[in-house]
Amino acid sequence: MNYYILTLFPEMVLEGLNTSIIGRAVQKGVIGIHAVNIRDYSKNKHRQVDDYPYGGGAGMVMQPGPVCDAYEDLCRKLGKRPRVLYMTPQGKVFSQKIAQELAKEEDLVFLCGHYEGIDERALSLTVTDYLSIGDYVLTGGELPAMVMIDCISRLVPGVLSNEESAQIESFHDNLLEYPQYTRPEIYEGLRVPEVLLSGHHKNIDLWRRQESIRRTLERRPDLLEHAVLSKKEQEFLEELKEISPERACAQENIVIE
Ligand code: ADE
Repeated sequence: MNYYILTLFPEMVLEGLNTSIIGRAVQKGVIGIHAVNIRDYSKNKHRQVDDYPYGGGAGMVMQPGPVCDAYEDLCRKLGKRPRVLYMTPQGKVFSQKIAQELAKEEDLVFLCGHYEGIDERALSLTVTDYLSIGDYVLTGGELPAMVMIDCISRLVPGVLSNEESAQIESFHDNLLEYPQYTRPEIYEGLRVPEVLLSGHHKNIDLWRRQESIRRTLERRPDLLEHAVLSKKEQEFLEELKEISPERACAQENIVIE
C-alpha cells in the first residue's frame, strides 16, 4: 500500500506516521508514506497557495492550480490515477468498514486542506471520496489523514505481527472488545475474573463473548442493531436488557450453555 499525502505541512504527517507500528511497517517496506508539498506547485514568486474568497467572508481559500497540478504530476509519475480522499467535516464519517474497503487499494491519495478549505473546482476535478473523522471541525486535514492511515494500515497484510493481529477486536461482528487483564492477579484488591485463570478455553471464549455483548449494550447500544449474534447470544442480550445496563454489569455471568 502506498499513501500519497497532498499537504502544506509534509513534516507534520511524516513525523507523526514514522513511529511505532506504522513506522516499522514503512521500514519493512510493507507500506510507503509519501508527502507531496502543495506549495511546491505554486506559480507565485512568494510561493503563495491561497487567496481571498470570491463573494467575501472570513479566511483564505486554497487556490485550485497548485492542488490540481500536484495531483496531476503525481499521476504522471505513477502512470495511474489513484483514488483521492479529501479530508473534510462535510464527508462521510470514517469507520472500520470504510477502512476495510480502502485497505484493498494499492495506492491512496489523501488531500489535506487548510484555512477555509480548497477551491471547489479543484475538488470536483480530483476528489473521489469525501471523508470526515467525526462531527467536529479541525484546523486542517492532516490529523484526519493520519488517523485514517493508521487505521487502514493495521489491515494491510504484514503490518501487524501475528501476535498483534488479533482477529477479535472492537467492531468485530459490530461488538466492542471484551475486557483484558494481565499480571498481577490481584491489584488494589481487584481480582482477575476467575474464568481467565481456569485454562478452560471454551469457557473463556464464552465469557469473552458475553462480556463483549454486555459492554456493547452498556457503552454503544447503537451498534447492537447490526451485531452478528447466535440465537443463544440473542437470548443472553435480551436477558441483559431486562435488567438495567448498570445492573447487568455488576451481575454474575449468565450461563448460556
Ligand atoms: N478537516 C477539518 N475537520 C475535519 C474532520 N472532522 N474530518 C476530516 N477532515 C477535517
